[in-house]
Amino acid sequence: MTEKIRPFVKWAGGKGSLIPQLNKFYPYDLKNRVIGRYIEPFVGGGAVLIDILQKYNIKEAFAFDINKDLINSYNVIKNNVDELITILKEIETQYLKLEKEGRKKYFYIVREKYNNYTIEENETKIQRAAQFVFLNRTCFNGLYRVNKSGKFNVPIGSYKNPTICDEQNLKNLSKLIQNVQFECGDYKNSIKYVTKNTFVYFDPPYRPLNITSGFTSYTKEDFNDDDQKELAKLYKMLDGRNAKLMLSNSNPKNINKEDNFFDNLYKGFNINEIYANRMINSKADGRGKISEIVVTNYNNTYSKGMENEMERIKKFEDGSFLEYDDGRFDKWCVYYTDSNGNRKAPKDTDYFEDLYNFSKKYGNERIYSDYVRIYNKTNKYIEEETISYIEQIAKVYELLDRMEIEKIFMILYMGMIEEENKERTKLGKRIKRLGVHALLVENRPIKESATFMTGKKWQLLGKLCKERGF
Ligand SMILES: C[S@@+](CC[C@H](N)C(=O)[O-])C[C@H]1O[C@@H](n2cnc3c(N)ncnc32)[C@H](O)[C@@H]1O
Repeated sequence: MTEKIRPFVKWAGGKGSLIPQLNKFYPYDLKNRVIGRYIEPFVGGGAVLIDILQKYNIKEAFAFDINKDLINSYNVIKNNVDELITILKEIETQYLKLEKEGRKKYFYIVREKYNNYTIEENETKIQRAAQFVFLNRTCFNGLYRVNKSGKFNVPIGSYKNPTICDEQNLKNLSKLIQNVQFECGDYKNSIKYVTKNTFVYFDPPYRPLNITSGFTSYTKEDFNDDDQKELAKLYKMLDGRNAKLMLSNSNPKNINKEDNFFDNLYKGFNINEIYANRMINSKADGRGKISEIVVTNYNNTYSKGMENEMERIKKFEDGSFLEYDDGRFDKWCVYYTDSNGNRKAPKDTDYFEDLYNFSKKYGNERIYSDYVRIYNKTNKYIEEETISYIEQIAKVYELLDRMEIEKIFMILYMGMIEEENKERTKLGKRIKRLGVHALLVENRPIKESATFMTGKKWQLLGKLCKERGF
């Protein structure tokens, strides 16, 4: 999926424009693929969720919001996107045909309908989602806001040619969120899903910088200072579970340098600043870019010397380790750092020789069948269970060879995951097996086996795999 996917709604506090800055604070373990679970307890428009799902290897994600209609719409996009598109297209055609007055009438009829029914009573959840999208796309400023009694109260906007049905984006989004579980409810419900290798991003309603600028009415329930304090308590509790946590909020210091509200709440964590495009006009500071805070419970940049603090896919007894990082051609590349700190991306030719030597010592069949056991367990995701399995397999070899054999199997395992994750992969992990098969079953020379697939079209490679029974 190369097309950039966008949120399907415009949302107050939406993080779309801040993504490049927030990216820098994502935990290194996301890039390193150690993290497979993502949770967003205040998902809103989902700009960060979408960014993360597009960039990283997230096996499962959980998104919460207290806004029922928002969550309903996500679920409809996830499960019934074609029906939603049909309804939205119809609405779009009807609406765009109308002149100003006609559009106004149309908008208020839909708003009235939307406000007179609750989601449970609405004809169908799909229609309700269509109304939700329509109102968001045509209302003033494209915002969602309700009054104290929970009624959507934004007036009509003045867009000349609003896109009501962004068909391709909805389809792409639908595909992207298939592994996401959306739940309507309080953010606290999310804690049951937080485990060690989880990344949680909290984007609660901003603490208002001053009483009048407060936009806290996404739902009829407000989010006040006591709620911010509760949230900080929960953050501390989850820190104890070793999850990676990131939280953003407004920065009270934009208005009052002495306001230490968040410094007190998040003492002991990293409080960073990012800059929004909005300007602030306060008497004390004149005009300037408004800053927001990003609180993390981990060191956010990778630098040399921090290696030991980082979680690696695999660390070996001699201090060497394996990890993933961006490569020259794609986002997936296996890196090996030896015990002296030299880092490189191992090529097949580098370790096929070792593989060959071990096969001379232990027999081709044994090495190949151990490899196939690992192959059978390999999928798109890094699984701790498989990593321990490889450790167990290596333990059966002679003491002096164990670590080297484990390294080779781990490099092969990680290489297969890499293949499974390539954007346009047709063969996935099978491509690696072709080389290993050439060396250990067909007894081809080392170099020829290591470069077995080079220059061959995937159709041919697919055929060769089939002939070999995989
Ligand atoms: C700042 S917005 C999130 C914006 C989002 N990051 C984006 O890019 O669009 C905060 C969200 O929290 C939701 N919310 C408010 N109180 C909540 C609560 N107690 N539990 C869960 N969600 C809540 C609101 O409905 C709103 O969608």
